[in-house]
Amino acid sequence: MFIATISPRSTGKTTITAWLLHALHERGYPVSGFDADESEQLYHWWEARPEGSYPFEVHKEASARFHLEAPKKLPDGHIGAVDCGHLENHSGIGWSVLRVADLAIVACAATNSDVERMDELPMDFFINQVIPKRADKKRPETWVLLCRVQPSSVVAPRGIRKTLMDDGWNVFTTEIPSVQKYSSTGEGVPITAAGSHFDELVTELEQRGLIKK
Ligand SMILES: Nc1ncnc2c1ncn2[C@@H]1O[C@H](COP(=O)(O)OP(=O)(O)OP(=O)(O)O)[C@@H](O)[C@H]1O
Ligand SMILES: [Mg+2]
Repeated sequence: MFIATISPRSTGKTTITAWLLHALHERGYPVSGFDADESEQLYHWWEARPEGSYPFEVHKEASARFHLEAPKKLPDGHIGAVDCGHLENHSGIGWSVLRVADLAIVACAATNSDVERMDELPMDFFINQVIPKRADKKRPETWVLLCRVQPSSVVAPRGIRKTLMDDGWNVFTTEIPSVQKYSSTGEGVPITAAGSHFDELVTELEQRGLIKK
């Protein structure tokens, strides 16, 4: 299966994809990474991996032929976690990824402006446009992940969650806080996901039946 991390603009997709790959791997899921962003940031993190970190493949696949090429590179039983470029400027690749994604994680920073950018794309329309091109002719399972949530802030993320849910979005219970541990992700930086919010996200994915071994 493919899990695509998407958003209209820069929100935290590459960070989420890198940590999710590690969290899934540490929990015993075979994983492969796919960098579907022309910036190749995830690929560079993987290339510069320190000993013992990123113990899986990351493929470069920033092309509107993603739906044709990436499935050939995904071994049976692997979860392919895909880092997409932001959809406002990389729509062709985004559509191609969504043609084969089983789960789309919409990375939304917990700010009003990020919710507004989802409305402006509009994100819902963007995802629905791909339905006729998909093998199952269905919308991919789609969940919003609130990220970069200010640790001290309770009221603002709660309001944003409510707005999104009132608009019909599924929103993960797990939230990713804005903390140094995640902002430090980069080339040469090892990741240990056990006990992190991404470990918690894997549990939620399992409990919601969105992934299985
Ligand atoms: N949970 C977090 N806490 C603190 N900082 C974060 C967190 N997640 C991401 N960041 C920071 O936010 C910025 C954007 O993150 P990232 O590059 O992962 O976003 P992106 O959506 O992949 O962006 P782009 O679309 O430009 O590729 C980076 O500086 C990153 O370090
Ligand atoms: Mg990125």
